Amino acid sequence: MTLSRLAPRAAACLLSLGACAVAPDPSDGDEASSSAAASSSAAGSSEDGSDEGVLDPAPEVVPQGDAALQQWLPRGLYRDWPAESGVHASAGPHGGGVRTFVDPSLFESLQAGNDEHPVGAALVKELYSGDERIGWAVMLKIEQGLGGDGWYWYERSRSSLYADGPGEALCTGCHSAGVDFVRTPFPLQ
Ligand code: HEC
Repeated sequence: MTLSRLAPRAAACLLSLGACAVAPDPSDGDEASSSAAASSSAAGSSEDGSDEGVLDPAPEVVPQGDAALQQWLPRGLYRDWPAESGVHASAGPHGGGVRTFVDPSLFESLQAGNDEHPVGAALVKELYSGDERIGWAVMLKIEQGLGGDGWYWYERSRSSLYADGPGEALCTGCHSAGVDFVRTPFPLQ
């Protein structure tokens, strides 16, 4: 069931984007952000629009766990989400360069200025050293009313796994400075 939902998206990804599962070129910011804009404008009306191929993946498609994420992240499905326009220096401890992608349900929630985001809201942050993508950080809202424990936290950079679980203390302390633990400035820059 999961596979049959994912397969058409993967196919659309390969056919229409070509390079989307390959190491990205950070200079492709314009192209990626315009497709992000397209998918965000479609997000509101796409409840039943899954036949349109490269539209927003359902938030619950974001898996948990290092093994699953090491499969899912390189496929680049999140690259259709609204995103920062390009790689920029992290204002936190997240390596050299970062670029954050926001799933459509979170984008909507951020636009609404909500104090707490819905279950399924997700962020994927690409981590760069120079032009090379060296890993990802992921936040996935798994339960409301639990603060940092209501988010699943994941970060892997090259061979180092920094977080893979709910309420990871290494992440929540610093992230508590954000509204519902989200630190990326909004509107996306
Ligand atoms: C010392 C502060 C600090 C710590 C510790 C920290 N972060 Fe962050 N994080 C930030 C800041 C600041 C941003 C905003 C984007 C940027 O400048 O990198 C951010 C952004 C993110 C994002 C993009 C979504 C968002 O909230 O804006 C993710 C995902 C993320 N961090 C995951 C993690 C994970 C997983 C950990 C634990 C392994 C962690 N962070 C630990 C400061 C921190």
